[in-house]
Amino acid sequence: MENPIIDFLYLICIILFVIGLKRLSHPDTAKKGNIIAGIGMGLAILVTIFYPIENEANNYLWIAAGLVLGGVIGYVAAMKVKMTAMPEMVSLFNGLGGACSMLIAIVEFYNLPTGTNMMSTQVLTIIFALFIGSIAFTGSIVAWGKLDGFFRDSLVLPAPQIINLIMLLLVIGLSGYIMMQPDINFMLALILLAVCLTYGVTFVMPIGGGDMPVVISLLNSFTGIAAAGAGLIYGNQVMIVGGITVGAAGTILTVLMCNAMNRSLFNVVIGGFGGGGKSGGSDREQVAKEATVSDTAIQLKYSNKVIIVPGYGLAVAQAQHACHDLEKALEAEGVDVKYAIHPVAGRMPGHMNVLLAEADVPYPKLLELEDANEQLPSTDMVLVIGANDVVNPAAKEDTSSPIYGMPILDVEKAKTVIVLKRSMRPGYAGIENPLFFGEKTKMLFGDAKDSLGKLKSEIANA
Ligand code: TAP
Repeated sequence: MENPIIDFLYLICIILFVIGLKRLSHPDTAKKGNIIAGIGMGLAILVTIFYPIENEANNYLWIAAGLVLGGVIGYVAAMKVKMTAMPEMVSLFNGLGGACSMLIAIVEFYNLPTGTNMMSTQVLTIIFALFIGSIAFTGSIVAWGKLDGFFRDSLVLPAPQIINLIMLLLVIGLSGYIMMQPDINFMLALILLAVCLTYGVTFVMPIGGGDMPVVISLLNSFTGIAAAGAGLIYGNQVMIVGGITVGAAGTILTVLMCNAMNRSLFNVVIGGFGGGGKSGGSDREQVAKEATVSDTAIQLKYSNKVIIVPGYGLAVAQAQHACHDLEKALEAEGVDVKYAIHPVAGRMPGHMNVLLAEADVPYPKLLELEDANEQLPSTDMVLVIGANDVVNPAAKEDTSSPIYGMPILDVEKAKTVIVLKRSMRPGYAGIENPLFFGEKTKMLFGDAKDSLGKLKSEIANA
């Protein structure tokens, strides 16, 4: 139904989405960007609720109940979630978005009027939304289960690539068969739904280790595309633009992450990263040298330039404030302190940036990978805080390493490296790190927050 007021309001929503997304690209404006896009989404929901339709369904009570229930669950989950558990939450919410598109598609298939031409764009759009939405749904649930430790990475079906190829052919064949029917066959649509849901599981199951964030981002883009598909079903512009925006953003993020890990998307999708090998190790027993708090504090105090490399362990220890305090103490002593941020440090894109911003670390102090690698050879001391894979030289030297080819921070080029972690346990990729046995490296064992607190007091008292 043509309605210029509704169209104008939808246009405002779309403009708010675009402004919001643009502002998300910088930490200083990201918070406002999020709010602006949220206002756009709120307006889109309101306009849609009051969209005048023929055969008024009068189901406002159901809609209000859904909004309140979903709003409360979303609010509580967002307030309670720990920063380190963010990827799990993104995955779960993303899966629900996919489920929404899937449900819309199946309901609209059921509601197709008798005599509908099955070989039409309308039916094709419904099948498309059903397919992508179902994969995004079950795929995201499996991704959530893997990140949460509910499913082990080793839980893989034999010959997963062949199974996935068969599933894809089954989906294409069944979709074609449904469209070739003379009339609507809801039973066939339900069978297609079951196949698509299973395909979501078999698609994500073989993927694991460090590739999980890439998959989550990919599934995120699927959800966007599924929402755009659902928007096409209803001819709803704001849903189409919103979906395409999410789909495009998810795709760009997926490509950027693949580049940051030096892996092709195809390689990620066929699975097999991390968790296995003992890469970087040699046959002889290697011994790591241990550092003491007082020696490290003195070395830090008399350095000209220090680079801090934060990693997942910093987030686990919630040591961002202690880290900023140490940085301020060192700067008071005239030391130049910077942070080297690896694009996949932590467990989600921008994890370290968000964490350090929370502790008010000035943004210009953060160096990206290339800049940091330029500055590391002229650095007196590197403090690796709860990072492991992102500083593993095996990525450059060991062709058998599962992370071979991933760009890393060349911390071994600095004069001294001190690694703050609790033990010699490996990081996310599950592989040994030869850096820890390097000539210039010493290990300062302990919880990152404790160690940083002790270092700061020692510097103040020295
Ligand atoms: P990791 O390689 O996972 O290493 C983190 C280290 O932190 C561990 O070796 C652990 O050693 C230490 N640690 C844990 N708790 C600690 C604590 N309380 N105090 C001190 N240290 C602690 O981290 P990374 O270097 O940041 O690399 C990230 C990895 O995750 C990469 O493999 C990446 O591909 C993958 N990944 C990235 C993302 C994104 S998008 N950022 C998402 C998912 C996965 P101890 O147990 O000995 O303390």
